[in-house]
Amino acid sequence: MSIFKPALLGACVLTFSIGACGNQQVAEPADRQVAPVERQAPVIVKDDKFTYANYDEVRVTHVDLNLDVNFDDKILDGTATIDFERVASAATTLVLDTKDLSIRSVATLNGSNPTNPGTGNSYTLDDADPVLGSKLTIPLTDDTTQVRIAYSTSPTAEGLQWLSPAQTAGKKYPYLFSQAQAINARTIAPLQDTPAVRMTYSATLRVPEGLLPLMSAEQGDKDENGEFHFKMPQPIPSYLLAIAVGDIKFKAINDHIGVYAEDYILDAAAEEFSETPLMEAANTRLYGPYRWGRYDLIVLPPSFPFGGMENPRLSFMTPTLIAGDKSLTNVVAHELAHSWSGNLVTNSSWRDAWLNEGFTSYVENRVMEDLYGKNRAVMEQALGLEDLKRDVREAARPELTQLKLPADIAHPDDAFTQVAYVKGQFFLMFLEERFGRAEFDAFLKNYFDKFAFQSITTEDFIKYLHDQLHVKNPDALTREELDEWVYRPGLPATIANPQSDAFDNVAAQSASWLAGEITASDLQTANWSTHEWLHFLNGLPEGLTQMQFADLDQAFSLTGTQNAETAYAWYMQAIKGGYEPALPALDAFLMSVGRGKFIYRLYAALKDNGRAEWAEAVYKKARPGYHPIAQRRIDGILFPDE
Ligand code: BES
Ligand code: ZN
Repeated sequence: MSIFKPALLGACVLTFSIGACGNQQVAEPADRQVAPVERQAPVIVKDDKFTYANYDEVRVTHVDLNLDVNFDDKILDGTATIDFERVASAATTLVLDTKDLSIRSVATLNGSNPTNPGTGNSYTLDDADPVLGSKLTIPLTDDTTQVRIAYSTSPTAEGLQWLSPAQTAGKKYPYLFSQAQAINARTIAPLQDTPAVRMTYSATLRVPEGLLPLMSAEQGDKDENGEFHFKMPQPIPSYLLAIAVGDIKFKAINDHIGVYAEDYILDAAAEEFSETPLMEAANTRLYGPYRWGRYDLIVLPPSFPFGGMENPRLSFMTPTLIAGDKSLTNVVAHELAHSWSGNLVTNSSWRDAWLNEGFTSYVENRVMEDLYGKNRAVMEQALGLEDLKRDVREAARPELTQLKLPADIAHPDDAFTQVAYVKGQFFLMFLEERFGRAEFDAFLKNYFDKFAFQSITTEDFIKYLHDQLHVKNPDALTREELDEWVYRPGLPATIANPQSDAFDNVAAQSASWLAGEITASDLQTANWSTHEWLHFLNGLPEGLTQMQFADLDQAFSLTGTQNAETAYAWYMQAIKGGYEPALPALDAFLMSVGRGKFIYRLYAALKDNGRAEWAEAVYKKARPGYHPIAQRRIDGILFPDE
């Protein structure tokens, strides 16, 4: 059966005339039905509800930032000069997203008469919505070619964390870093803050003496005025705008790959990430050229709220990856893979986040397999599947476990569960299995080329899949199977069940320990990797006795372990099992690690297991050091009614 034809009974319609399925109610625009997606094609329908921008009428094409990085006031202060193109010739306003910005003035400029101050201060800034921020509306006349906005950010901007010298490892200089994904670029600059719009950017930064500024861009030299210049010549979505400023040093890994970090961790980071060139080679062989020039990594302070962030040319990484044994470098493979999936081909709204994260998780795992072999890749798949099952079980409503998310998600955060990552990854594994690896690899390589520097929807992908692969292999997959993967909640019937001999061995040993046949010190763990430890710890059943906890802890010193993933898995069990000897080390962990993947669940588990007071006391101490993104999330976990 062709996936091009509508399914017969009540199923989601996959002709490309209607992109409606399940909770997705918006009909796809007429131009997407037939026209191939052109680079920078006009957007007719706005499908991103997390932006005020009128990108169906006017689109930002370039922003030039000219900013003072002011550590005394914790603000970025200066101007954003915006170029735009008219999509609808009758457009009379440019609508931008802002959040917690103070706007000093707005000038409209006329390119043929650049000194013309234009319409001056004529603009409106609406009252703030707690999620979206404030809509900035700038009237345009026919001869307006640019707008210049003088503004400053807020010291509490959600997209920026300002660290005092005492909060850094070196203790001498302050530090600033940004996190724009998903909708925090608008707290950094006035922009069309939607992944549907791509723009190039340039920037001039002034920073205090002794500090190095970096951006997700080509770096120019410091000029004679002490200013730093940056240029991103490829069009990127706003969420990839990034800045870091600090006492940052550099170490090369090869001629176009290197690591930035504070001195204390620079050598260790360069060693931990030394295989990045091999990852790049594998990625390039499979999916085509790396198109961004340099690829550097920066190891941020521990309050960075993610494992990694794929800022172009410069991935931002958590220091918790520096385990000393390269056991957590799949996160490097992941952020690097975004240079294809996400940064080159971008989800056009957060409802389609799986196009970024699912593709990236799939590519990441293929690269890990290429470099380290099937066994490690399968263990990582199995660990992912365990997390996916948990997220599916815990979903607030079933629609949130669809790959294509419903139109009414409350916040883009809802789009970044293991559904986007792991269900998306397993969907591509399923397609690979059905079409064959060679065919599917060639297809994906062409996909990255075809949609390079474009923002696309799930339906664009499905149409391309149909046209390029399914018409040639009509028996490989049915419409129902595809629908189930993309538009239905939960785990599809056709999901793979990764088989790991290493994990089977862990499970067998675990069972004999649980049955009391052996003590913890008899467990044959000498060759266990971090992955095997995670499988062991995550698989422990409820109801372990305090003796059993103590037996494990004495044999393996799990409390206080330095591997952050293992520590997290152990503390989750300790919280659920009421194992109090772990609490002081858990306190220290929560005080020193700001990575959301760990701390959100730890606080939630503490609260759910009768330790709300203890959690609140630790949070009170830790909160000032957490990133604003983490503060908002944990406030919501511990104090949901406030
Ligand atoms: N793009 C994400 C991080 C992100 C997601 C930032 C949503 C803001 C909103 C990044 O690529 C990512 O997925 N990081 C993961 C690591 C990965 C191996 C799953 C992380 O931070 O844990
Ligand atoms: Zn990612």
